[in-house]
Amino acid sequence: MSALNLKNSLEMQAKGAALIPGLAQLLSKRPDMFTRGVWPCYFRRAKGVEVEDLDGNVYRDFSIGGIGATVLGYADDDVNDAVKAAIDLGSSSSLNCPEEVELAELLVSLHPWAGMVRYCRGGGEAMALAVRIARAHTGKDAVVFCGYHGWADWYLAANVGTENALGEHLIAGLKPAGVPRKLSGTALPFRYNNIEDFRAAVSKAGDDLAAIVMEPIRNFEPTAEFMDEIHRVAKAKKAPLIIDEVSAGFRLCNGGAHLKVGWRPDIAVFSKALGNGFPMAAVVGKPEVMEAAQSSFISSTNWTDRVGPVAALAMIRKFIRVDASKRLVATGAQVEEGWTRLASQHGLKMHIGGIKPMLHFSFDEDNNVRRAYFTQEMLKKGYLAAANCYAMYAHTPEMVEGYLAAVDEVWSELAALVKKGAVASKLEGKPAVSGFQRLA
Ligand SMILES: Cc1ncc(COP(=O)(O)O)c(C=O)c1O
Repeated sequence: MSALNLKNSLEMQAKGAALIPGLAQLLSKRPDMFTRGVWPCYFRRAKGVEVEDLDGNVYRDFSIGGIGATVLGYADDDVNDAVKAAIDLGSSSSLNCPEEVELAELLVSLHPWAGMVRYCRGGGEAMALAVRIARAHTGKDAVVFCGYHGWADWYLAANVGTENALGEHLIAGLKPAGVPRKLSGTALPFRYNNIEDFRAAVSKAGDDLAAIVMEPIRNFEPTAEFMDEIHRVAKAKKAPLIIDEVSAGFRLCNGGAHLKVGWRPDIAVFSKALGNGFPMAAVVGKPEVMEAAQSSFISSTNWTDRVGPVAALAMIRKFIRVDASKRLVATGAQVEEGWTRLASQHGLKMHIGGIKPMLHFSFDEDNNVRRAYFTQEMLKKGYLAAANCYAMYAHTPEMVEGYLAAVDEVWSELAALVKKGAVASKLEGKPAVSGFQRLA
């Protein structure tokens, strides 16, 4: 099938790359992560599951779903109506908006172990805020953690003076350039479900343990022993357990995934889904820990805007009303079953993982070339598709069927090309890139 017209998209990318270092503000939205030269990169319009690029090509999105931010779907009418009304009332003034209090009440009612809430607007920012609160609360510095938690210094400090401590934590190749070398030893990684690793990190932290940071779930369920050990150490060392719900929150249930998985956090951190695409983040915690936010200076002008809390209130109310988590899990299950069946049918060996609403796959061999080919051919069939699939409430079972029918055709062609060793020769753009590196 012939290539799409991407004239305007490619011109904008060339301009963007010259003016914006790395082209995009988020690694996961860079075209090289998919297939540069073929991935449209910019959008003009997005509604429901549909995205229109700058050249008028329209796609159904079965890729990163706004990288998990738009859990209900793009430009959701209920959230948009609430936000439009808030804009007309005034989105900012010298006084605070009462929706901050209303949202705190709602978040605490969904997470009854908690009692207080602070806000900011980004996930990595909220994690930095949570770690600051924990350090202020304990008067200690060392953080043991597992998984990816954003761009801030406290986190990238793990790679200061180490080869690549973060290499096993979602994004490889994160260089600590610009992070003070003196932070070396303040962020100590451990692997999920690995008790020995966790104990080693805690032992390195010694008497200086300020917090234990982890996601509630990413690829696997936590084992009971692992959870017990984390809870035991947090209690014994009086180190707040910070559960990062930035990606997992509001997908598996009405609130943090920790509610479903069984974690007992001191702080839980939300962003992404919370505002359904409008910037919003919340740090929810036990009052005795959250009070430390008063002893540390944590303050920012744009954290007081009205759009964020209003969007979050509308998102949560709709999420609960329509029982969105049920649909997200069902959509993910349908996609996972389809991927598994089709991979086996076409003899493509691959690993499939992730929680149902946030699935991913990787080909066992030649992954970056094969996934670039997959994306390229799916675009021609009208799908934004990648090696990740984030479910949105706007996806219907019929849409998933259509998507899987397209996957079937593309994987059939791919399997034939694999046999001939000819996949790379069919790429119209560049192979996908894994991990963090400079945009070439
Ligand atoms: C678990 C987790 N924490 C933190 C972040 C960082 O959030 P943001 O990109 O909003 O800064 C992410 C982003 O993917 C994440 O998945």
